[in-house]
Order: sequence, then C-alpha cells, then structure tokens
Amino acid sequence: MRILVAYTSKTGFTKTYAEWIAADLGATLVTTDELSADLIRDHDVIVHGGGNRAGNIGGLKKFLNHWDELKNKQVVLWYTGASPANPHAEANVWGQALTDEQRDKATLFYLRGGFDMKLLRGADKMIMSGMRTALKLKPNRKPSEEGILKMIANPNRELDRANVAPLVEHVRSLASA
Ligand SMILES: Cc1cc2nc3c(=O)[nH]c(=O)nc-3n(C[C@H](O)[C@H](O)[C@H](O)COP(=O)(O)O)c2cc1C
Repeated sequence: MRILVAYTSKTGFTKTYAEWIAADLGATLVTTDELSADLIRDHDVIVHGGGNRAGNIGGLKKFLNHWDELKNKQVVLWYTGASPANPHAEANVWGQALTDEQRDKATLFYLRGGFDMKLLRGADKMIMSGMRTALKLKPNRKPSEEGILKMIANPNRELDRANVAPLVEHVRSLASA
C-alpha cells in the first residue's frame, strides 16, 4: 500500500508530526504545495495535516482542490493546535472546513502541537500582537481570554511522538482490511 503524507506548517509543529507519521508508515512526504494529481494517483492512502488558525486549517483548502482525485482514495486528515484535545471544538472545526461528503469519506484526527510567539511571521505575528494588546486593555477578561494571554506569553511545546499512534494504527488497519 502506497502512502502519501502532505502537510502545511508555519511554525514547525505540523511538520514534525508529518515527519513522524511518514517515518512510521514508510510514506512519501511532501508539502501541500508539492501535491499533484500524478502524486495522488500513484498512492493509495493520502494523509494531510495543517495547523489551526482560528478554524482555518493550514493547506486544507488547497488540498481539497484535488478532491476529484482524492475521492477514490483513502483520505486521512489531521490538524494541530495549541489547545488540548476537545472533541466538541474539533467537530466544529471539521464541520466548517469540510463538506458532508468530505467528512464522511475522510478519517479525522487532532494532534496537539503548541504555540511559540517567537516563531510567528507576517500576518500571524500581527494578528497575535494585536490580540495581546486588545486583551490586555480589556477589563473583566473571560477565562478563555486569560488563556489566550497566557498562551501568547509562554511558549508551549506539546509535541509528543506517541500522539501519532492512533493515526498510524488507523492507516495500518486500512492495509489489512
Ligand atoms: C493566528 C493564529 C490563530 C490560531 N488559532 C488557534 C486556534 O483557534 N486554536 C488552537 O488550538 N490553536 C490556534 N493557534 C495555534 C496553532 O494552531 C498552533 O501553534 C499549531 O501547532 C501551529 O502549527 P504549525 O506550526 O504547523 O503551523 C493559532 C495560531 C495563530 C498564529
């Protein structure tokens, strides 16, 4: 079974998971930008990951532009985020990102990444700096807003190689099915 792992990563969290998944599965590893119809055609299982930016999963739209080729394949999707796993929040993110057909077809995973303000560039840096200023000025902050301020102030790396196990096991189970 030929497995392709594609990813988009801005600060490296998704990239690390993509490398671990590809190594465990002996998969071809590419960025979302490197994906092509030919590459998809040459593989049986296509795995894609990206980082969550307020509900937008890195590279996912570009990946789904290949849906015509993908719908005849086994599709596995994951995203990373700074937050602990939360099935309700994840269902909302997937619900916004995927059509019903895509959600039924793909198997979905969340792999906790982390957050490091120092690694941000461009628009991401401006958004998070603006958010920090606005929240600091805000009286009566909600617990979730205090959480965002804490996240911005303290880099956290929650990467854990063990987190890829359920996804890797799922892909292996496709081979034996
Ligand atoms: C603008 C912005 C918005 C973000 N929004 C969320 C979010 O809604 N939920 C979350 O858990 N993490 C959020 N994060 C954190 C990223 O998802 C997290 O750092 C992820 O691991 C980044 O992956 P990457 O380094 O592979 O791009 C956000 C980060 C940025 C820069």
